[in-house]
Amino acid sequence: SGPVLRALMPSNVRIGSAVDGGLLASDERYRARLAADFNAVTAENAMKWANLEPGPGRHDWTASDQLVDFAQANGQAVYGHTLVWHSSVPSWVVEGWPRERLRAVLRQHVTTTVSRYRGKVWAWDVVNEVLAENGTLRDSLWLRRLGPGYIADAFRWAHEADPDARLFINDYGAEGRGRKADGLHRLVRNLRAGGVPVHGVGFQGHLRADAPPKDPTGNLRRFAALGVSVAITELDVRIQLPTNTEKLLNQALLYQHMLRACLTVATCESFTVWGFTDASSWISSHYPGYGAACLYDEQFRPKPARDALLHELRAR
Ligand code: G3I
Repeated sequence: SGPVLRALMPSNVRIGSAVDGGLLASDERYRARLAADFNAVTAENAMKWANLEPGPGRHDWTASDQLVDFAQANGQAVYGHTLVWHSSVPSWVVEGWPRERLRAVLRQHVTTTVSRYRGKVWAWDVVNEVLAENGTLRDSLWLRRLGPGYIADAFRWAHEADPDARLFINDYGAEGRGRKADGLHRLVRNLRAGGVPVHGVGFQGHLRADAPPKDPTGNLRRFAALGVSVAITELDVRIQLPTNTEKLLNQALLYQHMLRACLTVATCESFTVWGFTDASSWISSHYPGYGAACLYDEQFRPKPARDALLHELRAR
């Protein structure tokens, strides 16, 4: 026992973690820590389209339902991730199909998924990673075949299926000022001007301990000024292995800095880490030589980063 993160959060800001469906189902220690520290959860993989609908019209809701049930039992909000993402299109969806058929399957997916969890998922990442690094729209199946209007369409379909869900656009590499953040800002401004139901902007935050983003507080503020909520949605801070005290302290400071940015911006609604334990993190398989990116180590012992978050919350 001891102090837990969720108890110290201001009442209008959630603290969340991505959840590994395998560990949720199998590891009691994992479940206990997840329930103790966090009052929001995001499925790391379970709600992605390719996992939800392995065959046309053939759904597997097992893992996503398990997460929603766990969240309800533990007083946690569910952040839905993610409806439209170029990296998780089921293999049975074929780029060469006629445009109207592609549009229809995408619409069906959005409507079916959001309707199933209506009232149970408080926010959705409606579109994920739709920007290229230079701030223009990313080249993807959806842009190529449906044109840029697919983004507004996805928000409208989601809004129809659950008018009370908060609808987010989510991306990486836009936490700090830069070309990608500028492009995201323009896109959100234009969508809002067109009456599209975009309620929030999610900043993933896959960071490196030695490369902090540029002015995240100021950056989040200019999005808030558009009249939308903001959220840190996938924070992790990777370290070049092996770790040492100095690297772990730099990591802790960056976690703390990002929490402070969120707490400073009035419309920041949630602060979510992309997995809470080094026992389950995507980093080592995607960034060889890097790891140790989370708040707890592989044995579920709290790291300086978690202490830094406690410290930031107590100081407020
Ligand atoms: O579950 C299967 C397993 O049955 C199979 O044997 C194994 C063999 O490759 O793959 C397992 O699935 C993997 C899955 O992670 C679970 O570990 C997938 O191959 C792998 O692609 C998948 O990676 C996920 C990745 O998104 C792609 O969907 C990561 O866990 C997940 O952390 C990562 O999350 C993304 C966010 O959704 C969007 N933002 C960036 C973030 C990090 O890349």
